[in-house]
Amino acid sequence: MTDEIKKGLLGIVVDETTVSQVMPEINSLTYRGYAVQDLCEKCSFEEVAYLILNGNLPNSIQLNKFMKEERTNRNITINLREIITHVPKKAHPMDVVRTVVSVMGLEDKETVDNSPEANMRKAMRILAKTPTALAAFFRARKGKKIIKPKNKLSFSENFFYMCFGKVPQKEIVKAFDVSLILYAEHSFNVSTFTARTITSSLSDIHGAITGAIASLKGPLHGGANEEVMNMIKKIKTPNKAKNWLIDTLNKKQVVMGFGHRVYKSGDSRVPSMKKYFLKVAKIKKDKKLHKIYDILEKEMIERKNIYPNLDFPTGPTYHLMGFDTDFFTPIFVISRITGWSAHIMEQYASNKLIRPLSKYKGSKHRKVMLLNNR
Ligand code: ACO
Repeated sequence: MTDEIKKGLLGIVVDETTVSQVMPEINSLTYRGYAVQDLCEKCSFEEVAYLILNGNLPNSIQLNKFMKEERTNRNITINLREIITHVPKKAHPMDVVRTVVSVMGLEDKETVDNSPEANMRKAMRILAKTPTALAAFFRARKGKKIIKPKNKLSFSENFFYMCFGKVPQKEIVKAFDVSLILYAEHSFNVSTFTARTITSSLSDIHGAITGAIASLKGPLHGGANEEVMNMIKKIKTPNKAKNWLIDTLNKKQVVMGFGHRVYKSGDSRVPSMKKYFLKVAKIKKDKKLHKIYDILEKEMIERKNIYPNLDFPTGPTYHLMGFDTDFFTPIFVISRITGWSAHIMEQYASNKLIRPLSKYKGSKHRKVMLLNNR
C-alpha cells in the first residue's frame, strides 16, 4: 500500500469493462468495439442502445423486440404525472429528472429484484419512461398540456413529438439521434463511476441512476452543454467572439465545452456531432452560432492547444432545435441511461465494494469535554 494521493483518481485503473473504450489504434471512442463515428452513420439510437445494453448489434428480429419493449413501456403513471405538474416551475430539469427516476424506483414492481433479468427489464423501463417524464415537465412548466407518447414513433421522433407536438424533418431527427448515440456511453466518467459505486454496495438500479444524474448535473461534466449555450448567448455576435475568448483566458477562466480528462488532442465524438450541427444550422438558416463556434474552436486550439469536447457542438444544436437551454443536460440523461445501465449490470456481475482510503490530516486525538465545560 502506498500513501501517494491521486486526486481525482487521475490515471488510476479501478476495474475492467467490456462496454466502451477509447481505442488508441483508431484514436476513437468505441462501444463494444465499434467506433462511434461508424455507429452514427449506420445505426439508429435504438440499435446502439441495444448494443450497449446487450453487447452486440441486433439483427432485425432482436431490434423489433427491443423497440416493442421500449415503446410499450413509455407511459408514466398518473401519480408521476401529477408530481411533475406540481414541482416548482423554476426547478432545474436535472433535479426534476433525478426526482422522477427516484419516484419510478418507488413505483417499479421489481425494485428489490437485482437479478440480471430484472435489472435489464428495469433498465428498459427507465429508458422508455424518462423521456416521457422529461417532456411532460418541458410542457408543464410552460403551462402547456402534457402530450402522451406515440408508439408508432421512434425514440427520437417521439421525444420531439412529446415536447413540441410535432416531429421535425428527418435531418433534424437524425441530428438528434446522432447526439444521443454520442452521449450514450463513455467508460468510467464521473457519473458512471458514481453509478458503479452505488451499485457496489448492492443497492438498486433506480438508486444508482438517480445518483448518476446528480453527478452528471455538474458543469465539469454534463452540465457543460448548457454552459456552452450560456457562453454563446453572452458573446452574442461572431465579431465579439475572439475578444471574449482572449479576455476569458486572461482572467484564467475555464471555457466551457473545451478540454477533456481523456482526450488531449481532440474528442473523437466532435467531428460527427459538428457535421450534424452544421446541417441543422443550415436548415435553420443560422447566421451566428456556427460562426461563433468556428472562431472559439480555432482560437482555443491556437492559443491553448485545447480542443472542443462533445458538449461544444451539442449545445448550439439543441438550441437550434428549439430546446430550452436547461434541458440540454437532461437530454444527455435520456441517452446515458443506456451506458449507466450497462455499467451497473457489469458491476453486479463482478462486484467488489468500492471503498478507497484517504490520508487523514485533521486534528490529533482529542478528549470530549462535557457540554457545560466547552
Ligand atoms: N478552458 C481553459 N483552460 C482549460 C480548459 C478550458 N476548458 N480545460 C483545461 N484547461 C487548462 C487548465 O486550466 C489547466 O491549465 P494549467 O495547467 O495552466 O492549470 C490545463 O488545461 C489542464 O486542465 P485540467 O482541468 O487539469 O484537466 P482535467 O483533465 O482535470 O479537466 C475538464 C478536464 C474538467 C473537462 C476541463 O477541461 C474543463 O473544466 N473543461 C470545461 C468543462 C467542460 O467542457 N466539461 C465537459 C467535459 S466532456 C463531457 O462531459 C461530455
